[in-house]
Amino acid sequence: MEAFGAAGHEVTGLDLRGTPDGTTGDIRAPEALDGPLAGADLVVHQAAKVGLGVDVADLPDYASVNVYGTAVLLAAMARHGVGRLVLASSMVVYGEGAYDCGEHGRVRPGPRTAQDLSGGVFEPRCPVCGAELTSATISEDAPPDPRSVYASTKLAQEHLAANWARETGGTVVALRYHNVYGPRMPRDTPYSGVAAIFRSALEAGRAPRVFEDGLQRRDFVHVRDVARANLAAAEARTPPGALAAYNIASGEPHTIGEMARALAAERGGPEPVVTGEYRLGDVRHVVASPAHAARDLHFHATIGFTEGMKEFATTPLA
Ligand code: UD1
Repeated sequence: MEAFGAAGHEVTGLDLRGTPDGTTGDIRAPEALDGPLAGADLVVHQAAKVGLGVDVADLPDYASVNVYGTAVLLAAMARHGVGRLVLASSMVVYGEGAYDCGEHGRVRPGPRTAQDLSGGVFEPRCPVCGAELTSATISEDAPPDPRSVYASTKLAQEHLAANWARETGGTVVALRYHNVYGPRMPRDTPYSGVAAIFRSALEAGRAPRVFEDGLQRRDFVHVRDVARANLAAAEARTPPGALAAYNIASGEPHTIGEMARALAAERGGPEPVVTGEYRLGDVRHVVASPAHAARDLHFHATIGFTEGMKEFATTPLA
């Protein structure tokens, strides 16, 4: 909201917990949407339940907030004649990132087995010959392979938005966020991303616990860059009637171990511990190409890993 306001847009927020210059409300309640949508020409939809969750008991809540909530929003947009949507999607729709096998070229490995993971074999293997693979950048045309309830609901949001665009002639830009971090990130909860978990641990004087061997790679993208990507998507002229999806990434991947060490070093310890623990729902490497967002949205991340983590190490969390 701050980035849009600074760029001269008139913005109304709707948030379950309230926003400083917006309204408090639930996107699942059609009447909560009527005020904010009246006279609007664009919706930036960020409302979602995120994370891996605790267990399957979370399933109805993910589906309700993320899938049903999006359906209610899209219907309300049609009712109010609002034809443009920017949707916060996620790299989780890909499942594992892209991999190359020396023998079989580009492959998409399936979920890692509990047996491999508990034996310390963390790298996925070639689904054809079982050989070791090299991780490669994934681009938006990769077939989706959601591996968690959250991932399935994010993909469902994209599908519903694409259906809505076809039926109404609306435009949708889906931003597939990579690992977002930065000021006001929610603290350590079962639904938090790893950067917030490590940051909360360090603040409490505890060592960050790095799972697997710490060499799993992600692309950490700063929240101010993500805000700029939303603005770029809102101002881009994408074709109506279909969904256009873009990776929103820094293009500069790092390992989880590196991230833990960068935060710990900035705070003067404690040093991270590599535990070898694993979570069955985790993927190994997700590294994206930001080329399409650069080409079509003119979006380039501006906050590098070193600078961003240095700030994040001491910035207040929400
Ligand atoms: C994260 C978000 C997801 C979001 C996506 C893209 C969560 C839980 N996940 O997915 O919602 O859509 O980025 O923005 O918010 N790890 C540790 N120690 C810990 C916790 C995690 O080493 O205490 C490791 C995990 O094993 C994994 C990596 O950190 O290898 C990333 O974990 P996490 O941030 O939870 O999930 P992502 O899959 O990256």
